[in-house]
This record gives sequence, structure tokens and C-alpha cells, in this order.
Amino acid sequence: MGLRGTSGGTDPHAVGDAVADGAGGAAAATSGGVSGPGAHAAAGPGPDTGPVARHLLPDTAAIGPGGGLSVGGVDLCDLADDLGTPLFVYDEAHLRSRCRQAVDAWGRGVAYATKAFLCKAMARLAYDEGMCLDVSTGGELHVALSAGVPAERLVMHGNNKSEAEMERALAAGVGRMVVDSFDEIDRLERLTAGRAGRTGGHRQPVLVRVTPGVEAHTHEFVRTGQDDSKFGFGLASGAAAAAVDRLRRLPGVELVGVHAHIGSQVFRIGSFADAVEVLAGFFVPLDLPELCVGGGLGVAYVGSEEAPTMGEWAVTVRDECARAGVPGATRVTAEPGRSVVATAGLTLYRVGTVKVVPGIRTFVAVDGGMSDNPRPVLYGSGYEAFLPRAAGAERRRAVRLVGKHCESGDVLVADARVPDDLAVGDVVATPVTGAYGYSMASNYNKVPRPAVVFVSGGRARVVVRRETDDDLTRLDS
Ligand code: LLP
Repeated sequence: MGLRGTSGGTDPHAVGDAVADGAGGAAAATSGGVSGPGAHAAAGPGPDTGPVARHLLPDTAAIGPGGGLSVGGVDLCDLADDLGTPLFVYDEAHLRSRCRQAVDAWGRGVAYATKAFLCKAMARLAYDEGMCLDVSTGGELHVALSAGVPAERLVMHGNNKSEAEMERALAAGVGRMVVDSFDEIDRLERLTAGRAGRTGGHRQPVLVRVTPGVEAHTHEFVRTGQDDSKFGFGLASGAAAAAVDRLRRLPGVELVGVHAHIGSQVFRIGSFADAVEVLAGFFVPLDLPELCVGGGLGVAYVGSEEAPTMGEWAVTVRDECARAGVPGATRVTAEPGRSVVATAGLTLYRVGTVKVVPGIRTFVAVDGGMSDNPRPVLYGSGYEAFLPRAAGAERRRAVRLVGKHCESGDVLVADARVPDDLAVGDVVATPVTGAYGYSMASNYNKVPRPAVVFVSGGRARVVVRRETDDDLTRLDS
């Protein structure tokens, strides 16, 4: 019994004896192709009835002698018994390794996009491993500062920063602010007037966010680089050039670079090269020290997908920079979110009901759902499911994994494959839920949000406690 291997996986820490050769050939089905958060298992060669693919699991995942899956040396079924379900479980070694890969690939200016998953422990971890942190609201700024991350390691984003958010970011001394609109430039002008005098000559470093007019091949909700976008200044319209002019005339501000983010869950790294090609024409004549290409590197959610690595992404961007005449001394950076945390995390649920509708389908209902993972509902995102007690088992039974919310659309995995003997009371896991799961969780139907636990070296550390029923009324007057 073993997990299904993958061809040319991205995982440098394969768990030797837990990995068995298998139908890994399915892996390349979408590599180099187009995929988005809407990618489904259907993109692959058909229903995957083998054990869950190794490359969907955290680095330290291993099957124990009894057949149960452990992560970070902690048995997942024991964890569910001890801490309850639903539960977000993160492999701390995997998180650290991905942060280090990001720094190796891009240098110390690379920022972790905290919107993918943020709590104080995650903020500290990313900072400890050498990353800057991208925060896009006053709330993310608050959490990062509360975690003790020095402000100069923060990059302040947001397409509608309020004056209060900007004031706090400036007062804290964020390392970079990414300017998104002319109204924001007005605010910046007011807030920084006379500032250089007050701050001993320190001017706030800013980047100007531009939309290069490049359409990333991904779901339209997470596409951001096109001209028709609420983000940034258009290149084609001349807005970006006008923004640069204005920023250069603000005495309290130092324009240090250009930023662009073309979209998220991008599998075709050529899209980034396309963006660089367009950006270079604008960036090079400005003679600025920094160019940030945003985040967006895709990850595999289902066994049939295989994503480019952090290193491949950086090399593609750098090669294109060189080709397009971006000076070699330029600090070329990025802001990966999903690719740092997605595969490090998985969600554990407990099966509550199994409803067989003869001739139609079987619904397996678990104790969470769209409140802890809204991605299938929002983007039609595909996921897989498996039983941690039998992670190496064949998954021949076709079921629909659903949640406990009062909506028919509350589906976690529309076409899940599970072992034949799945039963009420089983712990079910959905892998690759580390990004945009907890961070987009809600209290819909007054379901308390799950706990988040980091596992490492045989120990589990609760980094966000489970909400209680009392938490559900704490804001009521
Ligand atoms: N930088 C900027 C300016 C961004 O807007 C984003 C993501 C990132 C970096 C990080 O992108 P990543 O490496 O994580 O793809 N909720 C959606 C994803 C929305 C992404 C928004 N911006 C989802 O669940 O797929």
C-alpha cells in the first residue's frame, strides 16, 4: 500500500517509503496548459480511482505501519480525535521550505501574500524564513505588526486604502507602499506633506501598480492584469505614466519601482513573460531600481495537474527581463501566496451522513463545507478527498462530498472518489486547502470557524483556536 507518485514532482522532500510508484503518468495532463481556480478533475484523463497523488500532500506526509497518514509525525486521525473537526492542518516544515524556496528564487525582497493565509504564527514563520509580507488591508497590516514583523519588511497594498489605513502604514514605517489610484496619490500627498522634514529626510518608498493589459489564462474572478480592471493604472491609457509624473513630484515620497499582478492560479508561466515584455517598455526608461511581478503561480489541486515550481517561475521572469532590456542590477521581486501555503495545508472533516440516492448519486456530508472552503462554490474549483486512515487505498467509490450548510450548492468535491468502505464517523481529508481556505472562511449558518494547527516533529501546535458558540454572539449588543 502506498501513495501514488508523480512524474517530476515539485517536492524535494519525498517521503521515501510512503511513496509507491503508480499511475503518476496522469500528472502532466495540464502542465504547460491553461488552468484556473475553476480547474476540475475533469481536466485530467478521467476519474482517478487510485490512492491520492503524492504531490497533493504536504512534504512530510507519510503512511504509518497501521496504514494511517501522518503529517509532521502526527497521525491525522488522532489529531482529529484530539482537536475536533473541521480542522486545518499545516505541515510546518513544508511551509518553511516553500518560504526558503521563494527567497532562493527571488531574493530577500520577495513578499509572502498574506491574503492566502494569515495568522500571527504564519506571519512570524514567513518573516523568520526571510520573506517580506504583502498586506492588502489595515487588518492584514494589524496582524503582521501584532506578530512582531518589523514594518520595514511589509509591503502595503490595496486598491482602496482608506486614509486611516494609509496613516497607520506610514506611521508604522512600512517598507513599501504600492500605489493604486489617483485618489490614493491625493491622499498620499496630504499625508506626506512636510513629512520629509518630520522624519529626518525619510521619504516613503512607493511602487506604482500598473495593469499591463495582459490576460492571464485563469479564472476571470482572479484575473487582474487586463485593462478592464479595478486595480492599478493602465499602461495603454497613459494613466501609469501620469501617475509616475505625479509621484515623482511629491516631496515626501520616493518612487522606487513598478508593480504588476496579472492574476492568480496561473499555470502558464509564459503569461508572466508576456507581462514582463510589456512592462519592460514602460519600466526601463524610468530608470527605477525595482520591478515586482506580483503573485499568481498556480498549484495542483487534483492529481491530474502539475504546476511549475517557484524556481521555474523566477527563471522565466528573469530571462524575459534580460531579453527585454531590464538592467541586470534591477531588484526583480514577486509576491507568491498560494504557492507558499496551498499544498502545506489540508482540512480534516468528520463524516456525519451518507445518503444514497438510488440511480443518481451518493452524498457524503461532513461537518464543515462552504464556510471553511468557499472556493468550489465561488470558482468551481476542483479538489480531491481521501481517508487518512487508508491513504494508500484505492478510491473506487464515486460520491459527492458536501457540507452542512443550508444550500444545495454547498459542495466541497463534486466528483469525489473514496474507498468502498467509507462510513459515518470516518475522518475525511481534502488536500491542498492551505491557501484561500481559512482566509476566506465565514460563519455562514453560524458555524464556528475551525481551528488551525501546525504540525512538526511529532507535535501539534494550535495556532488559531476553534471558535466557540460564545464567539458567535460576541459582537452582538
Ligand atoms: N499580489 C497581489 C497584488 C495579489 O492581488 C495577489 C492575489 C497576490 C499577490 C497573491 O497571489 P497568489 O500567489 O496567491 O496567486 N481567492 C482566490 C485568489 C485571489 C487572489 C487575489 N490576489 C482563490 O481562492 O483562488
